[in-house]
Amino acid sequence: MRKQIIAGNWKMNGTIASGSILIEAFNSFLSDKELNVDVVVCPPFTALERAVCLTRDKHIEVGAQNMDYHDAGAYTGEVSPLMLNEVGVTYVILGHSERREYYGEMDSMVNEKIKSAFHHNIQPIVCVGESLAQWEANETISFIHSQLDGALKDIPAEQASELIIAYEPIWAIGTGRTATADQAEEVCKSIRQYINELYNGNVADKVRIQYGGSVKADNALKILSEPNIDGALVGGASLLVDDFTSIIMAAQELSVTES
Ligand code: PGA
Repeated sequence: MRKQIIAGNWKMNGTIASGSILIEAFNSFLSDKELNVDVVVCPPFTALERAVCLTRDKHIEVGAQNMDYHDAGAYTGEVSPLMLNEVGVTYVILGHSERREYYGEMDSMVNEKIKSAFHHNIQPIVCVGESLAQWEANETISFIHSQLDGALKDIPAEQASELIIAYEPIWAIGTGRTATADQAEEVCKSIRQYINELYNGNVADKVRIQYGGSVKADNALKILSEPNIDGALVGGASLLVDDFTSIIMAAQELSVTES
């Protein structure tokens, strides 16, 4: 059985101080729980070090929202995997649609970043997802396959099986408009089938696929119950203590019922 993973993408929100308060609240909520769910928070770069300190020996891991794929050099404004290693970050979100849309990230770049993340023992969460126009034109599946072709080029099976892929339809991000559980499942299932084609059944079985896009306390359980959805990448609701902890507990509930 695949372990559910709930990750909070804070985007460009908050300060070191407000992020610390949030993490302390998560820590205190989770302190008396036996969890069989991976929980990750992804604050902005400036708050990563504090987040790592606050989550030491707690049930929360820390991820970055992006990274460069070079180790060091003349790349003004970028942060390298070595720098993330130094801070103690263990996850990184790669290819988020906002990075693709506003900063021109292409599949080839996402591919380099995945290789670099694995090389430096940082767990990548790789985002894919279609625009509203593609969704309406019924191009979702073919577009996502093309994103996977690009992102996974020359990634060996051992690494592919460790991947976390986040399916995030762009039209559902921050809009309050969520894909229905059925719609999300259909795409996540097709992602798993495509991984089977690209690699094999073993890799497809192991790869974890999250859904992201307006996941909230009140829709999490339904979405996470789908057989091919192994967690959520949560934006807005990850900044709210009640919402984020409810989403974690929805995943936990499922892990108990499934075991
Ligand atoms: P949202 O963002 O939950 O606010 O829609 C999700 C994401 O961008 O990862």
